[in-house]
Amino acid sequence: MAGCFITFEGGEGAGKSTQIGRLKTRLEQLGQPVLVTREPGGSPHAEEVRAFILGGHAKHLGPFAEALLFAAARIDHLDKTIIPALRSGTHVLCDRFADSTRAYQGSVSNLDKGLIDQLETVTLRGVKPDLTFILDLPAETGLARAGARQAGKGEGADRFEKEDLSFHQSLRQAYLSIARAEPRRCVVINADQASEEVETAIWAALRERLPQMVQAAVRPLDVA
Ligand code: TYD
Repeated sequence: MAGCFITFEGGEGAGKSTQIGRLKTRLEQLGQPVLVTREPGGSPHAEEVRAFILGGHAKHLGPFAEALLFAAARIDHLDKTIIPALRSGTHVLCDRFADSTRAYQGSVSNLDKGLIDQLETVTLRGVKPDLTFILDLPAETGLARAGARQAGKGEGADRFEKEDLSFHQSLRQAYLSIARAEPRRCVVINADQASEEVETAIWAALRERLPQMVQAAVRPLDVA
């Protein structure tokens, strides 16, 4: 693919959206084309599935059925948004992707790992992120941040934020084990520090892993 595919993962309140916004700004300053998207969602039909799942309507179906719904949304998101952007040379920054299914439905809900592997294979059809940032911080800190953010907006907790502390602690471990299993794709970033420091750490990792992205883009006029 002509563009690079970068995903951001982590527990609740890790600061993914802030960091995605900052990375987008930095890349655009270099003239790099960037698309920001999110999961669940990122295409009109996937956004409909998002509302259904985060509203808690699929909870009674159990974690495997929830995983299937996330996968259904992901197929549409890939087909309508991610793959066309990557093919056109646009870099894609995605807030959550398949590792969220691995962590939330797979590890924490104790689904069979083989089942999650198979689901991922048929859903992704070979489209894997070039780089995944795992924003890591203690579950207590993340939940407190997420709670403060919602209170500021007058919102309540969604389907997963309502889970207890042990769920979120296991989630953190699930992400760290994904990072250990795939060190070439995943970079763990300490998110328990000032957002400027997190931003600097992300930029340094990007420079090391995907140096072509942190250079001024070559425009057609420069070539002529
Ligand atoms: P969102 O409001 O986007 O949360 P956050 O700001 O934490 O990213 O809600 C997405 C929620 O859905 C989040 O709690 C993680 C969960 N989720 C899964 O359980 N499985 C998945 O495959 C995805 C993509 C998200």
